[in-house]
Amino acid sequence: MKLWGGRFEKPTDKLVEAYTASIPFDWRLYPYDIAGSIAHCRMLGRRGIIPPDEAEQIVQALQEIRHELDMLVAEGAPAPDPALEDVHTMIEARLREKVGDLAGKLHTARSRNDQVALDERLYLREAIAGVAEQALKLQGVLLDLAAQHVDTIMPGYTHLQRAQPVTLGHHLLAYFEMLDRDLARLRDCFGRVNVLPLGAGALAGVPFPIDRQMVAQELGFESVVANSIDAVADRDFLLEFHAAAAIIMVHLSRLAEEIVLWSSAEFGFLELDDAFATGSSIMPQKKNPDPAELARGKTGRVIGHLIALLTTMKGLPLAYNRDMQEDKEGLFDTVETVRRTLEIMAGMLATATFKPERMAAAAAGGFSTATDVADYLVRKGVPFREAHAIAGAIVRRCIARGITLEDLPLEEFREFSPLFEEDVLEAATARASVASRISEGGTAPERVREALAQARARYAASLDFWSALARRVRV
Ligand code: ARG
Repeated sequence: MKLWGGRFEKPTDKLVEAYTASIPFDWRLYPYDIAGSIAHCRMLGRRGIIPPDEAEQIVQALQEIRHELDMLVAEGAPAPDPALEDVHTMIEARLREKVGDLAGKLHTARSRNDQVALDERLYLREAIAGVAEQALKLQGVLLDLAAQHVDTIMPGYTHLQRAQPVTLGHHLLAYFEMLDRDLARLRDCFGRVNVLPLGAGALAGVPFPIDRQMVAQELGFESVVANSIDAVADRDFLLEFHAAAAIIMVHLSRLAEEIVLWSSAEFGFLELDDAFATGSSIMPQKKNPDPAELARGKTGRVIGHLIALLTTMKGLPLAYNRDMQEDKEGLFDTVETVRRTLEIMAGMLATATFKPERMAAAAAGGFSTATDVADYLVRKGVPFREAHAIAGAIVRRCIARGITLEDLPLEEFREFSPLFEEDVLEAATARASVASRISEGGTAPERVREALAQARARYAASLDFWSALARRVRV
């Protein structure tokens, strides 16, 4: 079936039909397409643009179609016919089977151009809620782990070289904060998604007394897109989501990389649960962190989808262009990928076994308290630059003797400066180093406890916000 055969003398070439069809992937927009059509049709009836009883018949048939399609999908077999072109055609064709020519009235005062923009916005509202739900789950795991490891000492790194001791709790809360900003970006993006494009028609508006506010209210949109050309031409609401999703994946890829490193024998900071690791077909001893590697790897395709859509949109003249049909596969893939990656990271972290002894040994072993030795002298009035040089010379001595800073006896410290006293031995320990970092946002356990309490309060508010939003956007 075609929605536009009238002015054509010949049938479409099969190649063209297959090349231009979006039904193989956009069928999954059907719940949103139907919800949008029902709201549109009710408005047409209430405004007397079509007779109210006819509107009611169409609405009922659309509700039946929704149910039929839900059943088909539940059986795992949507298998739409490519000749149906797109999801809008598929649903209108089925409507025609149910109500006959009356089906033709549904498309009054509407174009597929504003229709598809509406479908995508309805879809994305739910998708954002779904991504947020998984991000919150991961945040919950991070909070629990951080609470268990407020006092667990590990080396902090810069340049992947041991830098200064931190606590594992502090390190994990860094990821909590990243996800918190990710959620804020999603929330911000949601505000611009949640605007009704319908009523733009093809691009110029429609010559019927429609009520866009009524449709917006029925579908839970905050407002309507102000300009009809913009409503059908723009996809920046998708670009924003892709950007937010890509940033989430970049954050997850860093966490994934740390899991890969930490689960290696060289680090030994954690062991993944057997259920969250895989083996090798040749090397019997292997336990590989494949889920973490794939999280890192899948980041590439999510970034790719952002770049692909930016490139598709670049230089397109107003208003709708068929190029924009290319916005869908990447979107669906990104939504799936981000949701599943957040989920797997939560499961992987929640079941991993951390190795505090290994972390403590690594923190003690790498001169990571050299800054503390310098700061010790600073507190005794030595300019920081000079103190830095003295501490550096002490490290050189330790390296030459094959010992750590914690092993160096007081007499040897004093060879470098008479200002060193007994208490330097304590100051050079990782535990004292961590305890001393009491500045706001620092790694001292007392600060981390405060940060944790504050994070928990934000988290509770965020959970409330997102669960209310999820209820509101379900079609
Ligand atoms: N399948 C199309 C898309 O996804 C729907 C809009 C088609 N509009 C048109 N005038 N050809 O963009």
